[in-house]
Amino acid sequence: MNISKIGILTGGGDCPGLNAVIRGVVKSAIIRHGWQVIGIEDGFDGLLDLNKCKPLTLESVRGILPRGGTILGTTNRGNPFDFPVKKDGKIIHMDISDRVVENINTLGIEALIAVGGEGSLKIALELAKKGVKVVGVPKTIDNDLRETDLTFGYNTALETATDALDKLHTTAESHHRVMILEVMGRYAGWIALESGIAGGADVILIPEIPFNIEHICSAIKKRSARGSRFSIIVAAEGAFPSGGSRVVAREADERDTIERLGGIGQYVAKHIEHCLEMDVRVTVLGHLQRGGSPTTFDRALGSRYGTKAVQMISDGEFGRMACLKGRSITSVTIEEATRDLKLVDRDGEIVRTAEDLGIMMGE
Ligand code: F6P
Repeated sequence: MNISKIGILTGGGDCPGLNAVIRGVVKSAIIRHGWQVIGIEDGFDGLLDLNKCKPLTLESVRGILPRGGTILGTTNRGNPFDFPVKKDGKIIHMDISDRVVENINTLGIEALIAVGGEGSLKIALELAKKGVKVVGVPKTIDNDLRETDLTFGYNTALETATDALDKLHTTAESHHRVMILEVMGRYAGWIALESGIAGGADVILIPEIPFNIEHICSAIKKRSARGSRFSIIVAAEGAFPSGGSRVVAREADERDTIERLGGIGQYVAKHIEHCLEMDVRVTVLGHLQRGGSPTTFDRALGSRYGTKAVQMISDGEFGRMACLKGRSITSVTIEEATRDLKLVDRDGEIVRTAEDLGIMMGE
């Protein structure tokens, strides 16, 4: 493919490994192909302001591999196809994607790498339909993107959650308490499930398996009767009681078009306190899961995704996303990857593993 200039942006919530991807893209574009790279700041928003689009050089990416966050900045707002603008004192949503396409052309960007989760990749897909040559890279701590075994950032989030569980174990044991750890993951239970297994949790609550408070209490009582005077519960933020609904910290509105989850830890604590004669404490891990230096795994995966995205441009593979299948990096259509979310299979091997370990899955 005859290319001389590409653009890269990072969209949606940040996660560890974004800088590894950016570095991989810049290095391979410059070293292997001699292309110019334009870094677009703050996700798709950056394409509305030419001052936010600046060249990235080998110098710009020096030393960023172990750094969390993204040197380009990001946002989980600002969809150009549904952009909030103030009109007569009210916020209305408009399709301003033509301006984005115009700016891509003005900048001379011949292909665009969009690093993002489901939301950002859906925007990328819409841009592809408008003729922009787009390549996607799968990012999210939630690991909920379809058609890839893993997204980068997930492994680091798991490490953070598992480390928190190790720390909660010692204090839970000393005080004979029930400790609840609330983790992120939005509508998917991957972080809760895998960190719960790795961190030796006794109860894991995930959105894919609605829970029953009485059953949780009796599982904890049984543990006490067997002599284990403490219990560890991991609750995914999207978990909810059977017949009930998710705990929402902030409803979606015109500014934040997606509801903000949060509070399930306190919900469970409040309800199990009534049936247990034990102290219950809640830790909300929150954005710590998105921060910090990426693990070795995420640095390597991010670097592989970044260089693959450049290779895909060189091969003319547009409208596609780099992905991991088994141990190989390959690609799939962005359409397939964003069709719906990759959720935990209730009857799958990982839930089975948890249950075989005696972990109560909330039912
Ligand atoms: O999608 C990543 C994620 O961290 C989710 O796990 C969480 O629900 C959400 O983003 C939090 O978003 P914000 O940064 O807007 O609070």
